[in-house]
Amino acid sequence: MYFNWKDSIDENELNIVSQSIKNGEIVIMPTETVYGIGANLFDEEAVKKIFIAKNRPQDNPLIVHIGSKSEIEMVAQTPNAIEQALIDAFMPGPFTIILKKKDCIPDIVSAGLDTIGVRMPSTEIATRIILRVGNPIVLPSANISGRPSGTRIEDIREELEPKVYAIVDGGESKIGLESTVVKVIDNVPVILRPGKITPADIEKVVGSCQIDKNVFVQPEKVVDAETPGSKFEHYVSKIECNLISGDNNDKIIEKINSIIKEKDGRVALIAFDDITDKIDISKDRLFSIKKSDSIEKNSEEYAEKIYRYIREAEKTDSVLVLIQAVKEEGLGIAIMNRLLRTSSFKIIKVD
Ligand code: TXA
Ligand code: MG
Repeated sequence: MYFNWKDSIDENELNIVSQSIKNGEIVIMPTETVYGIGANLFDEEAVKKIFIAKNRPQDNPLIVHIGSKSEIEMVAQTPNAIEQALIDAFMPGPFTIILKKKDCIPDIVSAGLDTIGVRMPSTEIATRIILRVGNPIVLPSANISGRPSGTRIEDIREELEPKVYAIVDGGESKIGLESTVVKVIDNVPVILRPGKITPADIEKVVGSCQIDKNVFVQPEKVVDAETPGSKFEHYVSKIECNLISGDNNDKIIEKINSIIKEKDGRVALIAFDDITDKIDISKDRLFSIKKSDSIEKNSEEYAEKIYRYIREAEKTDSVLVLIQAVKEEGLGIAIMNRLLRTSSFKIIKVD
């Protein structure tokens, strides 16, 4: 079933969607970060359907999504002062906090860990569905495990439509990258997965913030994973991707042109428009991100488009996708965390 709620939520359809989740079905729905596949948290059979649909490793736990802050106590032990400060500051929003779980959480959800990730989306669609279901849901990203997350229905339908009961279309995801995942360890917030909520945002609230040592480590080299997610391949493209980085645009353009020549033109390029405008290649291989004077705006624009562009670039008959790297600061930390994985850590440095 397909429901179009781009303009407004249809009350009858909201009942159908929520009731189907209550009854053990799985449903794709939008959030402000990326689309998710939802199931009733307390229905193990329904949760199992998600693992099967996504082909997700059994030992990768799911995040619980709540419709109001009062639902935290349904799933987690009482947060400590620092955790509470983060909850107050960043929920609802693109933020997941790892808390000590309650015994009622099915093992299949937490993959045997004694903790549970909790997130409260800020979009009306997800919130209203969860509240109508009457209890929290699990909502992993809507993609086959290992692939980039889905940020618009066209991309998701291809991969998942036959495997789910219903799809709710809320238009393109605003942020485009998954939530920041944070665990407070010895009273210090540690970012396990970077996202829109940055280390600086967290520092402002509680005075400190660390980034987990595995955030920029290749999955096969990860030891002592704080999050099971860091051990698996993520955001992988169907064709080879290489990052290209450097401060001098003229040199980057020169390098890209020489690679295009070497590959007989069968290269797709994802880059800011001050680069793509100057590349001599057919327009359908060029994926431009609008560049402005603000670093923050540039990263927001980039995050919003990147998964969609990777999928579109795959559909050109290219043998290589070149992706412009961004600075690892602010939201750029999250972008680079994803892109390094997409490109299997292959980065062409141009100086
Ligand atoms: O923005 C988001 O968070 C999206 C939208 C749909 O809400 N959801 C999402 O869920 O990205 P998922 O399942 O694709 O990613 C959850 C990540 C995984 O990398 C998982 O390993 C980690 O969170 N995770 C879940 N529970 C954890 C726990 N108890 N401790 C550490 N990491 C955990
Ligand atoms: Mg995911």
